[in-house]
Amino acid sequence: MVAQIIDGKLFSQRLRDKVALNVADLKNNHKITPGLAVVLVGEDPASQVYVKSKGKQTKEAGMNSYEYKLKEDTLELDLLKLVYDLNNDDAVHGILVQLPLPPHINEEAVINAIDPAKDVDGFHISNVGLLATGQSSMVPCTPLGCLLMLKEFHGSLSGMDAVVVGRSNIVGKPMAQLLLNESCTVTITHSRTKNLEHVVGRADIVVAAVGKAEIVKGNWIKPGATLIDVGINRVEGSNGSKRLVGDAEFSSCSEVAGAITPVPGGVGPMTIACLLVNTLVACCRKYGLSEPDIKLS
Ligand code: GUN
Repeated sequence: MVAQIIDGKLFSQRLRDKVALNVADLKNNHKITPGLAVVLVGEDPASQVYVKSKGKQTKEAGMNSYEYKLKEDTLELDLLKLVYDLNNDDAVHGILVQLPLPPHINEEAVINAIDPAKDVDGFHISNVGLLATGQSSMVPCTPLGCLLMLKEFHGSLSGMDAVVVGRSNIVGKPMAQLLLNESCTVTITHSRTKNLEHVVGRADIVVAAVGKAEIVKGNWIKPGATLIDVGINRVEGSNGSKRLVGDAEFSSCSEVAGAITPVPGGVGPMTIACLLVNTLVACCRKYGLSEPDIKLS
């Protein structure tokens, strides 16, 4: 079997076009421009790239982008003060503090200082709780992007066996919650899971989100299963050049899976598109306007 490629680039473009249409409508009919504030502390090269990309795509969707670049040695108190000010700024509908933060800053304290209504990452404990109880919340962007692609591809996911490899707060746990809310039978695996290959081999849907280059191999995958690869790992090729690979070995997995997301060009572009969706949703909720119906097709 040769897997069908799930084209995250194409899906994310469709999603961003829909967001841009909704933003244009908000501007024309309500004189409201959604605004997203992104805060970066320090100079982590990967975070700098992500933040730049977020700002660019926010502006392309017609929204206001506010970028705050703080020094590596910024005090936690000063970051909390900025979050407080953004919470109280009516032009800001979404706030994202790029992670990881420098080690002297308590990430949980900062995340939980964000107004949950502006928490476009969906990391605040009250959004986590709302998602876990199936209530309206802000849904973390990467898992939301994965779910939208899965639903676009399969329609209903009800009754499917789903295995999530990785238990991070950013991807693994919320991904499992979203799949459970779609009536999948969900297993979360992690570094202590016994016989990981066997567990993965039962799945109709595999979401690989461990941050380890190419650990999921083709002979782990049930023939015809759908594989969503969240990993973005920079590895050195045989000629010394750097290339990006996922958490799954694409060459072997794509021979067995029914469908697979490539790296790059799969989950990555969907994450930022979902950030724009969340900012739009936060803005609509603030003004009591109907939320956009975001489906891909
Ligand atoms: N760092 C890596 N992924 C993310 C994300 O989704 N949100 C934030 N805030 N930081 C990240």
